[in-house]
Amino acid sequence: MALTVLIVDDEELIRYGLREWLHEEGFNVLEAPDGATALNLAKEEPDIVLLDFKLPDMDGLTVLQELKNRPGNPVIIMMTGYATVELAVDAMRYGAYHFLTKPWDQEDLANRLQSASELINLRISSEEQRAKQNESYSFDSVIGDSAAMRRIKSQAMKVAQTDATILLTGETGTGKEVFARAIHLASRRQGNEFIAVNCANIPDTLLESELFGYEQGAFTDAKKRKMGRIERAHKGTLFLDEIGDMPLHLQAKILRVLENREIERLGGEKTIDVDVRVIAATHQDLKKLILENRFREDLFYRLNVVPLLIPPVRDRGDDVLLLAKHFIQVLNKLLSRNVKQIEPQAALLMKAYSWPGNVREIDNVIERILILEDIGAISVKNLPEEIRSGSGVAVKGKSNGGFRPIALEDLEKEHILATLKFTNQHKKNAADLLGISRKTLKRKLDSWNIPYTE
Ligand SMILES: Nc1ncnc2c1ncn2[C@@H]1O[C@H](COP(=O)(O)OP(=O)(O)OP(=O)(O)O)[C@@H](O)[C@H]1O
Ligand SMILES: [Mg+2]
Repeated sequence: MALTVLIVDDEELIRYGLREWLHEEGFNVLEAPDGATALNLAKEEPDIVLLDFKLPDMDGLTVLQELKNRPGNPVIIMMTGYATVELAVDAMRYGAYHFLTKPWDQEDLANRLQSASELINLRISSEEQRAKQNESYSFDSVIGDSAAMRRIKSQAMKVAQTDATILLTGETGTGKEVFARAIHLASRRQGNEFIAVNCANIPDTLLESELFGYEQGAFTDAKKRKMGRIERAHKGTLFLDEIGDMPLHLQAKILRVLENREIERLGGEKTIDVDVRVIAATHQDLKKLILENRFREDLFYRLNVVPLLIPPVRDRGDDVLLLAKHFIQVLNKLLSRNVKQIEPQAALLMKAYSWPGNVREIDNVIERILILEDIGAISVKNLPEEIRSGSGVAVKGKSNGGFRPIALEDLEKEHILATLKFTNQHKKNAADLLGISRKTLKRKLDSWNIPYTE
């Protein structure tokens, strides 16, 4: 499949030259003379963006950051006539894949495009394969050996044997869908369908007919009769994902399904009996939604028969590394890589990081490292900035961002001592984490009359 390149440059001649050449190389081409047009074209989801730094309406770094927030996640190659080291560092930090100085060497650009294309193809095949793997999640493949995970897994396995309605809650990326599928597979309904409905992804206007189906002629577009997803889940499991996003009028209809186990298709007269096990999930606080009149209290109690709270990764202790190693194994195979281990300092930082995106974030971080680098072991320098800098480190008992009047030197001392404590007094690890040499560390400790022992 031909990949699409978006050229963002205000100079028409440059766009022209690139366009002709890219066409010859077999790419589809989109063009933008300024930042606004580029962001507008982002909805076409280009695979690669060649982005000039100096644009008439905004600077390239802003466009870069914006593009990174849009769906599609294009590979971005920055091009500039005014290269400075700072600029290059900023561009890379904001997620640029490469940085070229104008005038560029055609062969260099060809090579970069070649490796960007490989990267995109790897990404596509890894996504496809993983989607397949996700379909067959059993409890055995739910990774986690922490006390918190062992507890929740054993609860889930027990209720899997019943037909009770389950409400899965937990932060984003904690594995709610993984649990829902594992429960289905462990239940007596496993031979029948597991039907998932994501209430947040389907537009409100379509959600009702998706759930309930319709009879021919129920509305203008209803050419043929269509079975809804609730009906398709008959004798199986219906997974209502992101239930907090379900509009109120549908909440009332779902409540009736739970109470009577029957549905009516839109435009239909007869009631149809359905035998479904319902598992609902949300990352939102339903109690809060109830107070705001956005969620029905009676539905909440109907769903909350068995509440299961999936713990965030930061409460799972060493599971972080277990999960990381699991993803390394999976991705080694998919991407033909041979990463053997995580170096101790990198592992320490990963354990200290708070992982706001939970398991999905671990997966993404490992994937990004393996796609971009062919390495034998993951070291500190491979980790993304937020993990290396410890900016996401969970601070317990302190209000984040609170100001303390403290002299710079005292702060330095406090930080160095905390780092030593964190590494169990391991001087080399501490020095590495602090980004200083062991000699410098020794000099500093000496100056505070703290003995330095290896
Ligand atoms: N314990 C686990 N072991 C292995 N993989 C896991 C585990 N938990 C989650 N994953 C993987 O992490 C990713 C996120 O999981 P999932 O989609 O189930 O999360 P979620 O809680 O439904 O997230 P969201 O709230 O964003 O919908 C998936 O790719 C899933 O395969
Ligand atoms: Mg989910």
